[in-house]
Amino acid sequence: MTNDARHPDARARAPLPAVNSYTEWDPLREVVVGSLLGGVFPDWQESMERVVPDAARPVFRELGGAPLPAGLLKAAEEELEGLVAVLEGHGITVVRPDAVDHEVPFGTPHWSARGGLYAGMPRDLLMVVGDAIIEAPMSWRCRHHEVDAFRSLIKSYFRRGARWLPAPRPQLTDELYGGGADGWAVTEFEPVFDAADFLRFGRDLVVQRSHVTNDFGIDWLRRALGPGFGVTVVETDDPHAMHIDATLAPLAPGKLLVHPERYVPHEVFAGWEVRPAPPPTLPREWPMYFCSPWVSMNVLSLDPETVVVERQEQPLIEALTEWGFRCVPVDFRHVYTFGGSFHCVTLDTVREGGPGRYLGVP
Ligand code: ALA
Repeated sequence: MTNDARHPDARARAPLPAVNSYTEWDPLREVVVGSLLGGVFPDWQESMERVVPDAARPVFRELGGAPLPAGLLKAAEEELEGLVAVLEGHGITVVRPDAVDHEVPFGTPHWSARGGLYAGMPRDLLMVVGDAIIEAPMSWRCRHHEVDAFRSLIKSYFRRGARWLPAPRPQLTDELYGGGADGWAVTEFEPVFDAADFLRFGRDLVVQRSHVTNDFGIDWLRRALGPGFGVTVVETDDPHAMHIDATLAPLAPGKLLVHPERYVPHEVFAGWEVRPAPPPTLPREWPMYFCSPWVSMNVLSLDPETVVVERQEQPLIEALTEWGFRCVPVDFRHVYTFGGSFHCVTLDTVREGGPGRYLGVP
């Protein structure tokens, strides 16, 4: 089958707004793919303690602000280029962030960071809800200026009609950290969230409370979106919770792939078929600075039948194929090393479809 047969010529498609994306699975037309170029190790802060792998802590303490290992980074960048080629081969428009210098130290009157991080994971930072691009108020200090690499893209989308909603810029003073009685790494001092703690289901969004997302942040987003959208907090069983997209992956209306231990059944998924992802295949000794090997289930849907999956996750490919999906295998293990997979490294700015209702919410 040719690409054209699977994905009708762009000129034949109905025009859509510059930004239009309501779900994680509607047919994808345009996507931002992040870049790890020039990335540096994050400067350590205590709130990272609960979320990053044990081996990463001393590295961040010692090397915060120093360049990520060149060889691993090069291999990951090649995989990102491979993803871009696959997406473009499917007729999808791909846009990339600007190159910025992540090594520059910065600070506010209250704190300083030895550098930034990278522009590799737009999903952590930005969220598209319908025609709006939301900038998340991230709680890792080193990520305070991460949006800079994406600002020219956001301005361009705004000029073409998108709405642009930056959350209140957080102060990130010590009052935000230290955890509370509830055990989270961030308090309710001010609104914070990472965009990757949310998933989009048409008019409904699902979010997990995490070590980077507080109730204040969830309330801010709920009110910013207004009465046209619902935001439901779902419980997840993850002591290291940071980003919901290696815990739940909605692949099509009624089809939810879940982490076998982290998923906690919730009434919003009544009527959905829920299947556990098979364990990841990543070798135990593979370097992982930010996340667990379960980013294997951090897949990207090109449409409700087609999913981009890491080439070596054969058990997952078999499970999804058996479930009726067409899998597009792409090498991505070196990108895993830096904190994510296909969902994390992308931000779908244009998908077909509109604000449907898919969840069992009143
Ligand atoms: N925080 C998620 C994990 O490490 C992405 O699995």
